[in-house]
Amino acid sequence: MPRTVLVAYGTTNGSTAQIAETVAEVMSKEGLTAEARPAASVDDVTRYDAVAVGGGLYAGRWHKDARRFVRRNRRELTGRPLWFFSSGPLDASASEKDIPAVPGVRRSMTRLDARGHVTFGGCLQEGAKGRIARMIVRNGKGGDFRDFPAIEAWAAGVAGELIEERGKN
Ligand SMILES: Cc1cc2nc3c(=O)[nH]c(=O)nc-3n(C[C@H](O)[C@H](O)[C@H](O)COP(=O)(O)O)c2cc1C
Repeated sequence: MPRTVLVAYGTTNGSTAQIAETVAEVMSKEGLTAEARPAASVDDVTRYDAVAVGGGLYAGRWHKDARRFVRRNRRELTGRPLWFFSSGPLDASASEKDIPAVPGVRRSMTRLDARGHVTFGGCLQEGAKGRIARMIVRNGKGGDFRDFPAIEAWAAGVAGELIEERGKN
């Protein structure tokens, strides 16, 4: 009877945090109690009935805070309804087709029996941290490719699944 949902995120430039906030807001509107938290700041996963973990993609890997969160909490996460999301591509590809999880995330999904994964478009704008990030923006390859209607639809789908299960208990 999942009631309280944690949306934990790993971010460098804040765009995955905004995705996580949106996911939690939609879940709350659907009738769950949901909170978005930086993955590094969560110390007790047992307070939550279900968990979504999201990370920005950096060089083909999830943000380190998301990776560490999953490693640190693998026991508590196993057996809880669990979803993953990633945010990365700096083009429209994530809105056009299903982008599979990167290999590390795929392994974690198998290990922890996660129910699903989705890749959302990313965002990189003026003021982003890091030399490569600034170079991408300077070369005109940045932008905001987050598809909020798609993010909201995904969150509503996850919430619907949890609410349906709650009804059965
Ligand atoms: C150094 C660097 C490496 C990146 N590597 C990838 C990558 O491997 N795959 C991808 O889809 N996006 C990649 N991106 C784009 C980021 O994932 C995107 O900007 C994302 O929205 C960042 O999330 P954040 O704002 O939460 O940190 C990269 C961006 C930077 C600056």
